[in-house]
Amino acid sequence: MKNTAVTFKQAKEKGEKLTMLTAYDYSTAKLVDSAGINSILVGDSLGMVMLGYDDTLSVTMEDMIHHTKAVSRGAKNALVIADMPFMSYQTSVYDAVVNAGRLIKEGGAQAVKLEGGADVCEQIEAIVKCQIPVCAHLGLTPQSVNAFGGFKVQGKGKEAAQKILDDARKIEEAGAFAVVLECVPNKLAKKISESISIPTIGIGAGPDCDGQVLVYQDMLAMYSDMKPKFVKQYAQIGQQMKTAFEAYAKEVSEGLFPSEEHCFKIDDEVIEKLY
Ligand code: KIV
Repeated sequence: MKNTAVTFKQAKEKGEKLTMLTAYDYSTAKLVDSAGINSILVGDSLGMVMLGYDDTLSVTMEDMIHHTKAVSRGAKNALVIADMPFMSYQTSVYDAVVNAGRLIKEGGAQAVKLEGGADVCEQIEAIVKCQIPVCAHLGLTPQSVNAFGGFKVQGKGKEAAQKILDDARKIEEAGAFAVVLECVPNKLAKKISESISIPTIGIGAGPDCDGQVLVYQDMLAMYSDMKPKFVKQYAQIGQQMKTAFEAYAKEVSEGLFPSEEHCFKIDDEVIEKLY
């Protein structure tokens, strides 16, 4: 059954945990979808894990649409959520609506995600008015990396924790159907999850969120530039890929690949007639 923004809200009411993983291409989206994951996030993390930037700030609308299109073709049942990249919604409510619309119309996503609380409530309201479901994102919002002075846990002090809780209430009021909580203390995430009626999706926010999300290259140990504390590596796919690449290189250099079974046949007499 297709997961939607509505089934997300129902899952919270029923106390069912939600699962979300990132994907950025067709083949991975198909695998994630076939594993029964509720939602695929085409995160702007693609700037780091797919394109090799140091942060997410250089990601463009064109990048997001390109990758969202591929994921949408591979996702049958998972809800596809596309990230709104840096400066595609902060600049004005008009820009936010136009760019959210592009991710739906051109990318084929069913929802968009944007970062921020009170500051982006007008944008959330306007996008939701256009019947586009919006997932919010609070805590460590990577597009604020320069303002935060790095990728750091957020909401540890009283004021900072209260601001995130207030923001969660505001984005719910603005019409967001879910909120990602990134890198906040467990107990704050629990308090937020109990205080709002929309599902919280945690990443580095502990077990009491209504769902969890991970970047797939992190959980498969494929991205080695950094390993956040909150990541659990479910498989060593990065190492397996390297081993396979090495085996291929060795067999090619030794003339062992391709072998008979990988070759196409032709009648000898055809070859003999060639001049
Ligand atoms: O861009 C992304 O992948 C995200 C997740 C880390 C939640 O926003």
